[in-house]
Amino acid sequence: MDIVIKTDVHSVSRLAANIIARVVREKPNCVLGLATGSTPIGTYRELIRMHKEEGLDFSQVSTFNLDEYLGVGLALDKPYKEDQSYARFMVEELFHQLNIKQENIHLPDGLTKDPDEFCKAYEQAIRDAGGIDLQLLGIGGDGHLAFNEPGTPFDSRTHVQLLTDQTRKDNYKAFFHPAGMTWEEMPTKALTMGIGTIMEAKEWLVIATGSSKAEIVRQSLEGEVSTRVTASVIQIYPRKATVILDKKAAANLQGDSSSNH
Ligand code: GLP
Repeated sequence: MDIVIKTDVHSVSRLAANIIARVVREKPNCVLGLATGSTPIGTYRELIRMHKEEGLDFSQVSTFNLDEYLGVGLALDKPYKEDQSYARFMVEELFHQLNIKQENIHLPDGLTKDPDEFCKAYEQAIRDAGGIDLQLLGIGGDGHLAFNEPGTPFDSRTHVQLLTDQTRKDNYKAFFHPAGMTWEEMPTKALTMGIGTIMEAKEWLVIATGSSKAEIVRQSLEGEVSTRVTASVIQIYPRKATVILDKKAAANLQGDSSSNH
């Protein structure tokens, strides 16, 4: 695991976008695993800039998103308030500003009538695409990767996940409340790739920013490897993992494994 500490959020986003762009240039038909949340927004803006100003080409790229709330789905015809799906987030924050083909975009379907069947099909679709070349990951406030909450086994596959109160509160504060939605409208479950699914990606890019992440970043990168903090699996991921932090998120790290830039 390479840990890179940057001075600010903007530099984290620029470096993360450069790593994604490197994969896209080296393998134009690569498969990207994508994340949601506040953290990757800057990275997505930088990718959009690279597409518009530098011609970074997504025409052959395929994507798989990590997770989606259960019971919500893409509703571009509805007012913003009524659609806090990750699908909508991805379309607005990234996809509609790139030349990516609709048929190459894969998002967990939060409106599926048969979640278990959907999860199996999602796993199969990842396999059929040849696996994920680069997986972008954030770290949740309770140490979750994707929506793999504390206690989720490291060999888990795509599944339905009950969300913890902390995750619901964090995500309510960041997205649902600003959109004018009530606590009751905040979903309680999600579809998520499992840790085992994510472990099969050929490379990881993990980003975390801000002082609110400092302690969970320490536990994830330097604490005990345990399903109590599912992001601690980063320490045993067997292939190339680059972790990019800003100074605030890195504040509690003790080790000397990090490089400052
Ligand atoms: C959500 C997502 C995660 C993400 C996490 C962090 O719960 N399911 O994939 O990493 O939030 O979110 P943020 O970047 O807003 O802190």
